[in-house]
Amino acid sequence: MLNHLHTKYSRTMRGSGRGWLLLGFTVAAFIGFLSSAPVARAQDSTIRAIQNIFDPLSAPAETIYYVSVLVMVVCAGIFVVVGGLLVYAIIRYRRRGPEDDHEEPPQVYGSAAIELAWTVPPILIVVMLVLVTARTIGEIEHHKMPDAAEEIRVIGHRYWWEVRYPKHDVVTANEIHVPLSTRTNRVPTEMILESADVIHGFWVPQLNGKTMLVPNYRNTMWIEPYATGIYLGNCTVLCGQQHANMLIRVVVDTPEVYQKWLESQKQASVSDPQVAEGQQQFISNSCGTCHHIEDARGATGVFGPDLTHFSSRATLGSGVATNDDQHLRSWLMNPQDLKPGCLMPNMQLSSKQVDSILAYLRTLK
Ligand code: CUA
Repeated sequence: MLNHLHTKYSRTMRGSGRGWLLLGFTVAAFIGFLSSAPVARAQDSTIRAIQNIFDPLSAPAETIYYVSVLVMVVCAGIFVVVGGLLVYAIIRYRRRGPEDDHEEPPQVYGSAAIELAWTVPPILIVVMLVLVTARTIGEIEHHKMPDAAEEIRVIGHRYWWEVRYPKHDVVTANEIHVPLSTRTNRVPTEMILESADVIHGFWVPQLNGKTMLVPNYRNTMWIEPYATGIYLGNCTVLCGQQHANMLIRVVVDTPEVYQKWLESQKQASVSDPQVAEGQQQFISNSCGTCHHIEDARGATGVFGPDLTHFSSRATLGSGVATNDDQHLRSWLMNPQDLKPGCLMPNMQLSSKQVDSILAYLRTLK
């Protein structure tokens, strides 16, 4: 989409000169508006990987987008006026012959009209942009959440995301499921953002602006997505060696699919006698000191991601690899291979131990 816009934009620039700049931005705004038409599908696995503020698919991101278009159009107008005057001056007062080398142009000193022209309009423009921006920030920050709003706590860790659903007693990690909001059934999701260690930043550009996760402080933000799919985002504050692999997946489900997902996450883990050996290995190798697994005795850690429904997640290591057996085996052998600098140490497991723990983890759906 961004590339698409860029091409459109540069074609407009090359073909028709600066005067078309304004039109170019209007076209960009219109394309953005069209592409934000509501889409709802039952089980949507569309990956919305384009990290593009010009293609908002959620209420606050859309408001931010409109303000940014306004700012760009105003700035484009200023560019045209200033650039136009500059080009006019260069052409109109260019050197016309050798006689120009001996003649000085009239020396004008102090003109009230010109002084006012280049101070008053710029001040008014800046004041207008400040007011519009301040009003938008206020509207987004003081948006009243309806009672039906979903509430999620997202806690940033080096280098993964803990996700809690206090209303439903559900805990997961890295993959955040939220309900779709439609015109007839508005379900915004309020996010309470906290940090367990250093400052992290939560940003899924198609859903909302950036918000920081600050230790010992609660930040809030909200999203109201109106298209299903899987939205990708990143941690935006340098938080350590694996900052770049602190990836976010927000899965927007229809309310029915979302309810089903919540139900499945509330299920206790099944204890399968076939993987008792794996569970035993999991506990005796101290995995449970960092990881919590509901109903598994000895797995009560809070330092690493909750693994109760680990195999229901599509990725591992906060999005660093797909959650398939090959990657999981590599992760268990030595997490530092896939994610160097992550806080899970190499547990020096034997290949046999890895096999049995892998089989156990696969039962945690
Ligand atoms: Cu967390 Cu960067």
